[in-house]
Amino acid sequence: MTDAAFLQCIQPSCSATFALDAPIYQCPTCGALLDVSYNWSRIAVPSRLADFEKRWASRHNTMDYSGVWRFRELLPFATDADLVTIGEGQTILQSADAAAMGLSLKRGNLHLQYEGMNPSGSFKDNGMTAAFTMARKLGKQRVGCASTGNTSASLAMYASLTRLSNGQPMRGVVFVGAGKIAFGKLSQALDYGALTLQIDGDFDACMARVREAADRIGLYLMNSINPFRLEGQKTIMYRVLEALRWEVPDWIVVPGGNLGNTSAFGKAWIELKQLGLVSRIPRLAVVNAAGANTLNELVNRRGVRWNGGNWDCDAVCNHYDEMTKQRRKASTIATAIEIARPVNLSKALRALDAMNGVVCEVTDDEILEEKALVGRHGFGCEPASAASVAGLRQLLANGTIDRDATVVCILTGHALKDPDATVKYHTGIDTKGVSVSPSASKPTGRNANLPIRVPDNIDEICKAIESAR
Ligand code: F0G
Repeated sequence: MTDAAFLQCIQPSCSATFALDAPIYQCPTCGALLDVSYNWSRIAVPSRLADFEKRWASRHNTMDYSGVWRFRELLPFATDADLVTIGEGQTILQSADAAAMGLSLKRGNLHLQYEGMNPSGSFKDNGMTAAFTMARKLGKQRVGCASTGNTSASLAMYASLTRLSNGQPMRGVVFVGAGKIAFGKLSQALDYGALTLQIDGDFDACMARVREAADRIGLYLMNSINPFRLEGQKTIMYRVLEALRWEVPDWIVVPGGNLGNTSAFGKAWIELKQLGLVSRIPRLAVVNAAGANTLNELVNRRGVRWNGGNWDCDAVCNHYDEMTKQRRKASTIATAIEIARPVNLSKALRALDAMNGVVCEVTDDEILEEKALVGRHGFGCEPASAASVAGLRQLLANGTIDRDATVVCILTGHALKDPDATVKYHTGIDTKGVSVSPSASKPTGRNANLPIRVPDNIDEICKAIESAR
């Protein structure tokens, strides 16, 4: 299995290849990002997607139980014995008719992919199971990441569960911006025992530092610049397809931060098409927060395109230089996507090209409204995830997405990751754990659900219930 997989530079004019275990994250020849590539003719891929579904019948087998490794022939870089898995990817694609009506979309046409149902509460576990598989194969004792919270939670969880083949534990080291991540996520990193470095800087600063630390002390990088992470994240698309009875939807809508999902989804569909397992590729919509809108700025305002690998580096550098000169930092309530310099930019441009994709940006208020809509009609999600639904509303309104299209919005993280944002929306009060005193608050959201303060008196309590709408 393994000899059919290798690392490959994504730049078509270079396309240099390297052994899977080469200690690199970028092409040493030209500096471009790397893919995990496969010589498919040497891999026994099931001829029909439905064959993967049969594995539900053998769920006592750890690999079949995992929503990632159930599709192992589509990410065949490791042997079965190498896999680090805890049953990640048991996620739900929910048909969301009530939310669809709120968006004036046809009944049955809106699907929400709840990736928050993963063990650490976000889609990151799909990628971490793959990256940890590689880290253990390489015998890495220390793994690290920069994070807006979810990557650190997932890394910390897998590090606490993974032993090297010699029985040694793995050490997880996470770099987070001090005061920049939601408490739900910080609490996970602390609880799982990761060495947690709170850096006086934002995500972009953490990313730069963790890369330096990787070079200097050999910390194995688990951010999505690690191509093995993206192999695991491809499976989100396989599960969506599986849940839709292998019918390809018209649109996939995803929030964009470091652009790992965007990149992974593009690769998943390119490969499925190449393997003849699907006949068409859905369109992709990537949604930025307005306060962290690098991809939207580059694609829609500066015209940057993949262009066969010759994307306009100068336009990107100019934008980054301007941000530096103006000391402009990313800033949004959706802290998970508060990123100004996405490491996977080039792969994301490739994905947009392959999936005839579009990009848009949404305000924090729009994000919070749609988060409340999702919560009202389902399992809920964290703010960054709701950017996908807010983006969908915008793309329906401006006619980019047809009202009878089949749409899948990826809800990337669990509602409980950031309860402060939720309570603030509903009460108008920045609680930070302080008890809510609604009489003083004025929530302005359309879907706000203000708690009612009632004396400890049964008459008053019944009166409050009867008089509620
Ligand atoms: N949604 C959530 C909940 C996230 O945590 C992230 C990224 C994204 C969306 C964006 O995904 O990077 O693939 O475009 N969180 C990272 C972190 C950066 O450190 O947890 P992307």
